[in-house]
Amino acid sequence: MRAIVTTRNGDVDVLRVETRPDPSPGRGEALIRVKAAGLNFADILARQGLYPDGPKKPCVMGYEVAGIVEAAGDAVDRALVGKPVIAMTRFGGQAELVVAPLTQIFEKPEQLSFEQGAAIPVNYLTAWALLVTMGGLKTDEGVLIHNAGGGVGLAALDIAKHIGAKTYGTASASKHEFLKARGLDYAIDYRGQDWLPLLLELTDNRGVELVIDPLGGSSWKHSYRALRSTGRMGVFGMSAASASGIRGKLRALKALVQAPRFHPLALMNGNKGVFGLNLGHMWNEGAKVAVWTQEIVRGIDEGWIRPHVDRAFPFDQVADAHRYIEARKNTGKVVLVP
Ligand SMILES: NC(=O)c1ccc[n+]([C@@H]2O[C@H](COP(=O)([O-])OP(=O)(O)OC[C@H]3O[C@@H](n4cnc5c(N)ncnc54)[C@H](OP(=O)(O)O)[C@@H]3O)[C@@H](O)[C@H]2O)c1
Repeated sequence: MRAIVTTRNGDVDVLRVETRPDPSPGRGEALIRVKAAGLNFADILARQGLYPDGPKKPCVMGYEVAGIVEAAGDAVDRALVGKPVIAMTRFGGQAELVVAPLTQIFEKPEQLSFEQGAAIPVNYLTAWALLVTMGGLKTDEGVLIHNAGGGVGLAALDIAKHIGAKTYGTASASKHEFLKARGLDYAIDYRGQDWLPLLLELTDNRGVELVIDPLGGSSWKHSYRALRSTGRMGVFGMSAASASGIRGKLRALKALVQAPRFHPLALMNGNKGVFGLNLGHMWNEGAKVAVWTQEIVRGIDEGWIRPHVDRAFPFDQVADAHRYIEARKNTGKVVLVP
């Protein structure tokens, strides 16, 4: 099979399409012929050497795929063979074939293309956990979605709209029109200006009940200040560190130094909460994730979950796909097709 290999840490030239042995499914697993694989910010950070959860290099990244079941391992119903599915993969998804345990595979809803299917697991499960499970977002509460035009951002917007929350989002100005058409109530340009005064102005100086922040570093300080009483902040990434080579290491260090420290007494007296989410550390919580998945599939059926694929890059153009996201050009999901 052909697979996208991150050969070592570095710039996009470390990415290669190589031939690897076909995997075969073990007990309780299925072999999937990949039609589309999700590209996530984590894959970029991994290539830059800034993603501690990534496998040892050389490696095949890829947390999610949509495709067709090609073979079933022992103890797996043979009726699954030939079915279109979506799967969470603990790496290895950016290849023509991948093996996943049955617990991480679900049937692809008919109305989704394979490319849209590959845009579901990481973005929507992360957004669900942040907004619903941990963030407890309610109707009429205010939510600030950072990078609202990105993969997780658009997923969060779908879910927040369904809940009936008032939505505020930061994004590059070029994405604002699209975001408003998707239902974002207030779009804020956060590039080259302080977004906090703008948000406070929009909320009568109160702030919002929920902020989800994948930027890290000093952004977490600002996001915490954006919370009104009973507000919660979900931290789930460190995009601020993104860069190749020594620049990335320095940015990561800066983000760590600038990250706020939260004292329990300050949280108590501020009536505020802070929580963290890392979907990549949920592999042993399959039952919880399965419940979230059911809710997401219900949302697809009911039409309020609308995965938006910006671009599909062929495997051979994986370097362009990485560059596209690093240059902040993506609105929604980028997928890779064999
Ligand atoms: N903890 C978890 O479980 C989890 C799961 C999924 C994703 N995440 C995190 O969530 C964030 C979004 O992930 P995603 O896959 O959905 O990516 P994405 O948002 O689709 O793509 C990146 C977008 O982030 C914005 N951005 C902010 N800082 C950036 C930087 N330094 N370099 C490039 N772009 C930057 C850009 O949009 P603007 O136009 O807004 O600048 C860009 O288009 C990432 O930090 C990722 O690591 C965490």
